Amino acid sequence: MFHDKTVVITGASSGLGAVLAEAFADQGANLALFSRSEDRLEEIGARCRERGARCLAVAGDVARAEDCKRLVDRTVSEYGGVDYLVANAGVGMWARFEEVEDLEIFRKLMDTNYLGVVHSVFYALPHLKKSKGMIVAISSIQGKIGVPLHTGYGASKHAVQGFLASLRTELDGSGVDILTVLPHWLRGTNMRSNAFGKDGGLLGPDSKRHSKESISLEACSQAVITAVEKRKRELVIPFKLRLLLWLNLIHPGIVEWLVKRKVEIQEK
Ligand SMILES: NC(=O)c1ccc[n+]([C@@H]2O[C@H](COP(=O)([O-])OP(=O)(O)OC[C@H]3O[C@@H](n4cnc5c(N)ncnc54)[C@H](OP(=O)(O)O)[C@@H]3O)[C@@H](O)[C@H]2O)c1
Repeated sequence: MFHDKTVVITGASSGLGAVLAEAFADQGANLALFSRSEDRLEEIGARCRERGARCLAVAGDVARAEDCKRLVDRTVSEYGGVDYLVANAGVGMWARFEEVEDLEIFRKLMDTNYLGVVHSVFYALPHLKKSKGMIVAISSIQGKIGVPLHTGYGASKHAVQGFLASLRTELDGSGVDILTVLPHWLRGTNMRSNAFGKDGGLLGPDSKRHSKESISLEACSQAVITAVEKRKRELVIPFKLRLLLWLNLIHPGIVEWLVKRKVEIQEK
């Protein structure tokens, strides 16, 4: 299915993006990997090449529109087009709103998590229209449900959901499909260590255990690939999380209570 197809992945230097890159490499895709840290990106690129895939590594920041343009231009000049854009790059926060000391956190979260998607989609879209390709956005369950300590993060993921819901209506009939992926906690990523703390600095490594319900990167990556193959519009992972979304429509107060309790237990 993905043999000789061109897959652009933002945020491919660690976590879900890196695992997705290797999964697409196993299927013979031509890859264009993007993130800020060139060294880690090269490492992932080398692993993808070992798996037999062609792989281009482009260093840049999704918050900078010109970097996303450069990513797409280099991809097109190397492979001739774009079939799939996986907009995965993201950063988090861990702080109660009232304890935040640096409001810049909110701008940075929107710049990366929301505008990063807008920028990469903007430049890839003309090529995706030619290939009748697909936009795959790694959003979060927090794009639909509020979670304590994540006000700015949740807002940025809600923005992604709103942007893509509107774009989907505009792209009707164009042949371009949009998949939004809404995972629960993922284990084995740098999300927490790279998250902004209340003072605007990064949290750094910590010893907090993963929630029992966290999902492995391999399981998430496999579910994303299957959803792309089926050209689905939304993937909620794990599937049982859909119950929470339904409950949220009927009794949002119960969902708020459940989520608050879960986070309190987790943060103890
Ligand atoms: N971890 C979770 O529990 C979880 C749950 C739901 C959804 N998600 C979403 O999953 C996606 C992947 O996150 P992850 O969990 O795999 O975390 P991760 O290991 O921290 O990976 C994030 C990736 O994004 C890149 N990135 C961050 N800021 C960037 C920027 N300004 N420009 C370009 N690349 C940037 C990072 O690379 P550089 O630092 O090298 O730039 C890294 O490759 C994110 O969108 C996240 O919101 C995560």
